[in-house]
Amino acid sequence: MGQTAALRLARQGLTVYLVGRTESKLQATAEQIRAGGGTCHVFPADLTEEPALDALTAQLKAENVAVDVLVHTAGEAMIRPIAETSFADFNRTLAINLGTAILAVTKLIGFVRASANPSIILVSSKVALRGYGGVAAYSAAKAGVVGFARSLAVELREERIRVTALCPGPVDTPMRWSATPDFDRDLVISAETIADTIWYLANLPRGTMTGEFLIQSEIYD
Ligand SMILES: NC(=O)c1ccc[n+]([C@@H]2O[C@H](COP(=O)([O-])OP(=O)(O)OC[C@H]3O[C@@H](n4cnc5c(N)ncnc54)[C@H](OP(=O)(O)O)[C@@H]3O)[C@@H](O)[C@H]2O)c1
Repeated sequence: MGQTAALRLARQGLTVYLVGRTESKLQATAEQIRAGGGTCHVFPADLTEEPALDALTAQLKAENVAVDVLVHTAGEAMIRPIAETSFADFNRTLAINLGTAILAVTKLIGFVRASANPSIILVSSKVALRGYGGVAAYSAAKAGVVGFARSLAVELREERIRVTALCPGPVDTPMRWSATPDFDRDLVISAETIADTIWYLANLPRGTMTGEFLIQSEIYD
């Protein structure tokens, strides 16, 4: 989803700053963006670590850049019955799915404030809104993202910064097929649909508030 959203935003003419742990994946995305005439910068970083965004924030500051759209998609699925879920599993799942969102927002909020129509879009999940068995730690983390977004939306509304928790049902991405290889292919929506939604949310008129935004296949329950 992050890659597809980055390609989409770059096609629309935005300069894109790519963050993730694996530099080769970021570089491959960057090559696609540049091949299409877009502009981007690559910042390999593990967002579970406090200094992860220091290089990015230093560049944004040096170049006086405003962040129009902050999109957080970092996450990792955890499908495991509660009896087999260790405390370390919980902590890791919370750190990767929720902690990374908090780090991204706290480190980048100053640059978002400088935008003429700022948007923060945090990708949560449908599991934050509805109970499914076997995903307790993941659901808790994704519900945490929704709670974080709700509070931010109220705190930042006087500054007219729009905050959305995007809550997809199953999406056709590498995570989907590594977490659930036998999942029914008719029940997923595409990463392009998520990218379209991100672009739509980012372009709402300033002063429009959103909230949780559920998006899923019409035949997914
Ligand atoms: N696919 C679905 O069905 C689905 C449904 C609902 C919600 N979601 C959520 O949507 C988001 C995107 O998922 P996806 O399906 O696109 O998964 P994906 O293909 O596995 O992508 C997740 C991305 O997060 C990055 N990442 C993970 N941990 C990170 C960390 N500590 N620091 C920096 N980057 C990190 C990964 O890159 P590196 O490994 O290189 O760091 C990867 O590019 C996730 O939050 C996921 O939980 C997915």
